[in-house]
This record gives sequence, structure tokens and C-alpha cells, in this order.
Amino acid sequence: MASSSAALSQAAASPRHDAFLAEHRPATPCVVIDLGIVRRRFAELRAALPTARIYYAVKANPATEIVAALAELGANFDLASPGEIGICRALGIPPERLSFGSTIKRGSAIAGAAAGGIDLFAFDSVAELEKLARHAPGARVFCRLLVVNKGAEWPLTHKFGCEAHIAAELLVAAKQFGLRPVGLSFHVGSQQTDPLAWDAAIAHAAWVFRACAHRGVNLELLNLGGGLPGHYLTPVPPLADYAEAIERALTREFGSARPRILIEPGRFLVADAGLLRAEILLISRKASREHERWIYLDAGLYSGLTETLNERIRYCLRTPHAGSPCGPVVIAGPTCDSTDILYHRHPYELPLDLEIGDPVDFLSAGAYTTSASAVAFNGFPPLKSYFV
Ligand SMILES: Cc1ncc(COP(=O)(O)O)c(C=O)c1O
Repeated sequence: MASSSAALSQAAASPRHDAFLAEHRPATPCVVIDLGIVRRRFAELRAALPTARIYYAVKANPATEIVAALAELGANFDLASPGEIGICRALGIPPERLSFGSTIKRGSAIAGAAAGGIDLFAFDSVAELEKLARHAPGARVFCRLLVVNKGAEWPLTHKFGCEAHIAAELLVAAKQFGLRPVGLSFHVGSQQTDPLAWDAAIAHAAWVFRACAHRGVNLELLNLGGGLPGHYLTPVPPLADYAEAIERALTREFGSARPRILIEPGRFLVADAGLLRAEILLISRKASREHERWIYLDAGLYSGLTETLNERIRYCLRTPHAGSPCGPVVIAGPTCDSTDILYHRHPYELPLDLEIGDPVDFLSAGAYTTSASAVAFNGFPPLKSYFV
């Protein structure tokens, strides 16, 4: 198999991916998850940030096999919906290890979570605080802070969080609502390529801690969110650089009064564990003078490759015909929708002797793929997962 630009980054198929594909030849498209890599990433993160409690952001890949593997290692879980809460409950994970981290919740979802023993909820508005006070009286709550997402390949800004002075107001109000304001969270944007992105966010958080303390509300918890990267075409710094930058900022801003630290990795724990195998359905050219080939795959925007939207996440690709000359391609999915083009602007090159029926592997495709796949768009079934 030849790798397109894979040398630029650490994305790679694992021996277990390859053994599974060779032995089972599964129907495509599908994702093969190497659970050993998930376990390894968890251990690496625990070693890099030993004082942080790790809450896996289940939305990145809610497969029971992954949640169970992480639960066994002692992980906690960040949940976005009653569906994700149900996955953890079914596995018998105690509610003390769960955080309802969405800032946009239905009242009945809050009530259901509280009835099941969950006692940690996020908010970023007064209306959500009112819902929490009504449906989970006395619960521990943390406010999500709006922070800059510069450097993130998949930004999460604008929609979530509030400004620092509003966060301070809301945390003080939370106490008046009969809730227990415990701290703050933020998210520096997913696939964050700059370890210093946490720096300003931690400084803002420290300002809110001080503002709240002035008004008699002593916060105890800082949730550093997600953002740690997987490996795609753009190379990223090693985990140690992120850990060092975070530790430095925490020491500078909080000194010996450091709050309890939580971190909510999604992509970091599961992206590199997944390999998405697709197959070429068609190779064509649009015009005789065009030198680009159009490669149509059986996987596209609607079958798990959602993060190729606007070509934000650029996966490393692997194809057969190692060593043969490459040429420019446009890569598209199989549906009758013209948005289903994965890469047109970014200059991907693939072997010239690729043929219809050849496999194309998307490396580091374990995050935000299977759970984002459409159920039946154009009649195609959802993306299937295998676990090794
Ligand atoms: C609240 C929250 N925490 C954590 C994450 C995980 O982020 P990442 O996959 O970048 O680690 C997300 C992702 O959307 C999120 O919304």
C-alpha cells in the first residue's frame, strides 16, 4: 500500500488493523478500531497530566466497546445527551463518574440525569441555569467560558460559552438559584494544533475564579475541555508539548491554589485507533484538458467523513500500488449530492495506476466518523465498525 503524504505525520495503520483487513476482507465502507491504541492513548494522557481527571467525550465515538475499555481503565465520561448517558448506564458506570457537559439540554433530560444520580452539569446562560435549578435542584454546576479557538482545525467557538464577566455573574447567580457553582470549563477548539491555545483560556478562567471569590463564591474545579489532536495531514506537536504548556499556565495563574483539573479528550483518545476502509467505485475525468482524475469512493460526507466538510480535517490516505507515480485527484463520495466532495481544493495526489475496486484507507479515522454517519441517505447503510 502507498501512503499519500503520510510521511508528514504520524498517522499509520496498526498491525492489528492490517491483520483484520487481510483476514476478514470486510465489506466497505467500514471502520476498524484498534482498542489497544485507545488504551495506549489513555495511559499516555494520564502520564502526561497526572493530576487531571480524564472525562472521555463520548461523542467522539460512542461505541460500547470503547466506552467499556476506557471505563475499565478508570476513565470518567463527558456526555452530551440522554442517549450517551444510557450507554454508560448500560455498562454499569457509576453516576459519580459522569458529567452532563452539554450547555443545551432539555428539562426532562436534566431531570432524568439527576434522577439517575448525575450531579455535574454544564451551562453557559441564565436560562439553562433556571432549567438546572428546576430539574436538578442542588446540583453541582460549571460554566462554560467563551475562548479563542485560533489554531483549531475544527473550531467550536461562537456557539458555546459566555464571556468571562458573564460567567462570573452566572456562577454567583447559580448559588442564589440553590445550585452549587463548582467551576468553569472551556474548549479551545477541536484538533488544536497550537499547545499555547490553553494559555489565554487558563488566564481568563483564573480571572473568573478571582472575580467569584470576591463575591463569596469559591470555585474548585477547572475543566480544560477537549482539543488534543489526532494525526492527519498537518503535523501536530507531541503530547508532551501540550502538557508542558498547560502545566506552565496553571502554575502561573493559580500557583499553589490550583483547582481540581478535569480534561475532556475525545479525538485524542480515539482518532488514531480507527482506520476507515473505502473502495473506489469510479475513476473519471470531466474534460479532456483536465489533468485531475475524479476518484469516487463508496464512503463520503454522509458515511462518516463529515469532518471533510470545507476540507477542515484532511486525512492521510493509503492506497495500493506502493512506489508508483502519483497524480492530482479530486476525491468524492457516492451519493447524488454535489456537496459530497471530500477534497477538491487541497492538492491530494494518488497513484496513477489506481483502479476501480481498489481500497482507499483513511488513517486516524476513529473520531467523529461512525457516530456522524447518516442512517440511510440515498439508501446507503450507516458506517459499520469492527473492533480489534
Ligand atoms: C463539551 C465538549 N468536551 C469535549 C469535547 C471533545 O473535544 P475533542 O474531540 O476536540 O477532544 C467536545 C467536542 O465537541 C465537547 O463539546
